[in-house]
Amino acid sequence: MQNDFVMKNEILSQLSQEYPWADRFHYFPTIGSTNDVLKTLAKQGAPHGTVIAAGHQTNGHGRLGRSFQSPQGLGIYLSILLRPGCTPMELMHLTCVAAVAMCDAVEAATGFRPGIKWTNDLVHEKRKLGGILTELGLTPKGTVDYAIIGIGINCRQCREDFAPELRDMAASLSMVTGSPVSPARMAAAMMEALGRMDAGLLTEKEAILRRYRTDCITIGQDISLVRGDEIRYGHAVDVDENGALVVRFPDGSVEAVNSGEVSVRGMYGYA
Ligand code: BTN
Repeated sequence: MQNDFVMKNEILSQLSQEYPWADRFHYFPTIGSTNDVLKTLAKQGAPHGTVIAAGHQTNGHGRLGRSFQSPQGLGIYLSILLRPGCTPMELMHLTCVAAVAMCDAVEAATGFRPGIKWTNDLVHEKRKLGGILTELGLTPKGTVDYAIIGIGINCRQCREDFAPELRDMAASLSMVTGSPVSPARMAAAMMEALGRMDAGLLTEKEAILRRYRTDCITIGQDISLVRGDEIRYGHAVDVDENGALVVRFPDGSVEAVNSGEVSVRGMYGYA
């Protein structure tokens, strides 16, 4: 098992000279949740670009209050703090931008590009490889005080490392590529991609959403939309300029669905 210092330096040593925030990177072998700890640091004034990465989370969580399994040394769990100084409306596409950045990061680290299951899952052949949880904190005036993007990626699990109920729905990058994938290498690629993402966050929205639509496997699928106890069936036709899923329902009506409280399933399984 690598200790804190070795792992932190292994990640730092793989960052390029261009990476802007090497001075505000923290690594924890074990943590509750990188998002939760970073939120505390954000409220204490931590600067734009602060990153927390961990080798294990005891309380990793995802959208809609779900837990995110974060076993020791098998995945990478990483959150970044941004202070873009804008309104929440201008960040409606944040999860989509982060998802494209994470596809770029996986491709840079492994040569393999995953798909995106709307809105925030990295997938391959109906199996989840990772997920993204974005959270905003607002100022009293209602502008964005901080945005936190948390990402968990399964790097080197084998099938048996997943809980039995997840084995047909989850996979790791090592399983998909057939080669060992180092969490440190993955972390460095994620940080580089997040640095590039930040540079175009507010100025390259349209181009990034075009890339999102290319990576998104949900578009063109028959889906079920689950909101609490209600399930609706429809056909996903597009992702709009705010990152909402545009769905056509059997009666011909078309709605843009936001990710806040809805989960999407393919008609025949998870993705
Ligand atoms: C999801 O599957 O809905 C999103 C999962 C996001 C998990 C990551 S791991 C790093 C960060 N810390 C957390 O507690 N969650 C995110």
